[in-house]
Amino acid sequence: MKIAVLRERAPGEKRVAATPETAKKLIALGASVAVELGAGEGAAIADADYAATGATLGDLQNTVAGADIVLGVQGPEPASLAGASQGAWIVASLNPFADRSRVDAYAAAGLEALAMELMPRITRAQSMDILSSQSNLSGYKAVLDAAAEYGRAFPMMMTAAGTISAARVFVMGVGVAGLQAIATARRLGAQVSATDVRSATREQIMSLGAKPVFVEKVAGIEGEGAGGYAGETSPEYQAAQAELVSGHIAKQDIVITTALIPGRAAPRLVSDAQLATMRPGSVVVDLAVEQGGNVEGAVAGEVVERHGVRIVGHRNVPSRLAADASALFARNLYNFLAAFWDKEAGRPVFDAEIGDAIRLTQSGNVVHPRLLQS
Ligand code: NAI
Repeated sequence: MKIAVLRERAPGEKRVAATPETAKKLIALGASVAVELGAGEGAAIADADYAATGATLGDLQNTVAGADIVLGVQGPEPASLAGASQGAWIVASLNPFADRSRVDAYAAAGLEALAMELMPRITRAQSMDILSSQSNLSGYKAVLDAAAEYGRAFPMMMTAAGTISAARVFVMGVGVAGLQAIATARRLGAQVSATDVRSATREQIMSLGAKPVFVEKVAGIEGEGAGGYAGETSPEYQAAQAELVSGHIAKQDIVITTALIPGRAAPRLVSDAQLATMRPGSVVVDLAVEQGGNVEGAVAGEVVERHGVRIVGHRNVPSRLAADASALFARNLYNFLAAFWDKEAGRPVFDAEIGDAIRLTQSGNVVHPRLLQS
């Protein structure tokens, strides 16, 4: 069983799909590990650190040659995988609904593509969940990015020269990223409030010492929502939410938006008119910018200014913390392979619940039900 670890080629992608720690553990399972030269560079991992684990290092062609499993952060170019074993697995974040042609190319090449972001949100798969591990870091970094753009301090400070008041931070969307954003902003001393459409988040917000801001009169999504995910809300709810947010946002210094609905464009939560009510020098960070954006006027990959408010739209936020993001991503992939490792077969053997959820292609065909519908 040869496992290949490729250098990421997507622009701005600094993460790597295996670290020396996980390479060593994969070797201990009985696999051989081949790492492309320079694969860890963006995450501050030297080739020598991989070599010390017993992994081999080589160019792309050598690394891929005869590989049974190819690990990536993002999906490798199908053309770069010529030379892999027949039916080799691609294990990465594959963005299949936005990048269908790549999935078709994997199928045509006879590769078995496994999209790790489709991992079911069940207890036993938590340690394999790349969305959670990366969102957690995004939520943290969003607060630091906001602090860096903000021309004032976060904590209240009483000094001989006078008092500085605490920054008011409003987090919209309290999933994994939002919870970490709340916790981070609190640690920095901000006064934090937060909102979500799922009613179960109210208690989570309070347990972190933040103030919940919720639509009271119209039902949103009761409890956790299906699989922990939000769905579309009613037009009445959306109108009530917009009104509530309008009143609240005008008093905020920092707004961090993280709201996503799986399979749809991100919901629009902050309008240009609402931005105009914020005090100049305020900062809005849109973590959903690559999925269509929660904030009107946010631009992916840029920091723009509207009405004196800075709107931060960094792409690929986990890659901005590449060393930690890689360490967690790599452990997610290792946990996944190790959980299903069959000693006799010398390779992982998946069960149907997880295999069917993440498998996009098999034996030359696209097999994922959601891709067959579209
Ligand atoms: P996500 O990234 O899909 O969405 C972020 C947040 O935006 C969610 O909380 C969602 O309710 C909220 N949202 C959507 N539309 C909104 C709107 N119009 N206004 C305000 N907020 C809106 O969600 P994420 O972070 O991937 O996780 C959601 C939940 O899934 C977590 O809270 C957690 O309880 C659960 N989960 C369960 C896992 C497991 O059991 N293995 C693993 C990870 C998460």
